[in-house]
Amino acid sequence: MSSLRQRLACYAYVMSDLALGLGRRLGIKSLGSGKRHARYSPEKSADYAEWYVGLFEEILGGGAYHGDVCELGPGDSLAGGVLMRARGAESVTFFERFQSQHDRERERLVAEILLEREKEKRNFVRQSRFASQSIDGIFNDFRLIQGVAAEDHLRSDPAAYDLIISNSVFQHVLDPVPLLQLCYDRLKPGGRMLHVIDLRNLGLLKRWGELAWMDTPPALHRLMVQNTGRPNRVRFQTYRQWAESLDGDFSVLIRHLVGNKEALGDIPAAEVSSEIWDASRELVEVARPHFTPTLRSHSASDHAVATFLLCVTKHGA
Ligand SMILES: C[S@@+](CC[C@H](N)C(=O)[O-])C[C@H]1O[C@@H](n2cnc3c(N)ncnc32)[C@H](O)[C@@H]1O
Repeated sequence: MSSLRQRLACYAYVMSDLALGLGRRLGIKSLGSGKRHARYSPEKSADYAEWYVGLFEEILGGGAYHGDVCELGPGDSLAGGVLMRARGAESVTFFERFQSQHDRERERLVAEILLEREKEKRNFVRQSRFASQSIDGIFNDFRLIQGVAAEDHLRSDPAAYDLIISNSVFQHVLDPVPLLQLCYDRLKPGGRMLHVIDLRNLGLLKRWGELAWMDTPPALHRLMVQNTGRPNRVRFQTYRQWAESLDGDFSVLIRHLVGNKEALGDIPAAEVSSEIWDASRELVEVARPHFTPTLRSHSASDHAVATFLLCVTKHGA
């Protein structure tokens, strides 16, 4: 590792991770996550739900929200589920690791805004079970499993889904590949999943550079993140190799490469210009000599992927 200060910063992360874990074990509820939308106006929460639900639909195509839909890690807003139901999903299930705080009155306001906007856009799927429901009915109809990691629940829950989505969740899962595999196993034949996965440092050791967190030995890194859900540092290569091992189809879209401040627009890797690829790979090569040995062998292109979308279709519809 590069410097004594960097190592000391790692130990400080370990201490805060331990403290949080202990606090949770003692049942201090305020240490849960999920207060983001409580700080937003209802309009802003509605905008956010429209943005990610719309983005997924744009990528998957119209009619993406049908049958049984599952969202991993919704945080403290179920508003996206209201839109998914309005656009055709028959049921929506949420798995959230932490006990997020849901203010029903606020969620009802957000839902009203969203449903009004959907009506204006004539976006409604006239699905009888949805059309006859009140907003309370829509929320009561959601299946919300919270306070347990999705992987722990999915292992023993055989329910199957037509679509499983997540936005910025997998980088917070301690061991993301078993969860990915469970999601794949729980897809119905022909079912799809789409996950936005952010591999950036999310602030971790950032004063030493964008890739400084690659320097930390794996066991130390794990102690820094296991309770807090700080980013797991599982790199693109691992996801790519998992996807390549499937009998289903998969595709990857790139949002950021290392060094990009602006999003590239969720495009196939081949559509990212060679200048942008080269600049990112160069940043990787400059940082690589400091990487912990297990991460040194990944290719520069794999390390260069900073945020991506993984879309998988299970065979056999
Ligand atoms: C960065 S937040 C994203 C929240 C929301 N998807 C959004 O777009 O704002 C990550 C969320 O994933 C949840 N999460 C992390 N690990 C999880 C797991 N193993 N199972 C279910 N949820 C998880 C966290 O509790 C948190 O709510």
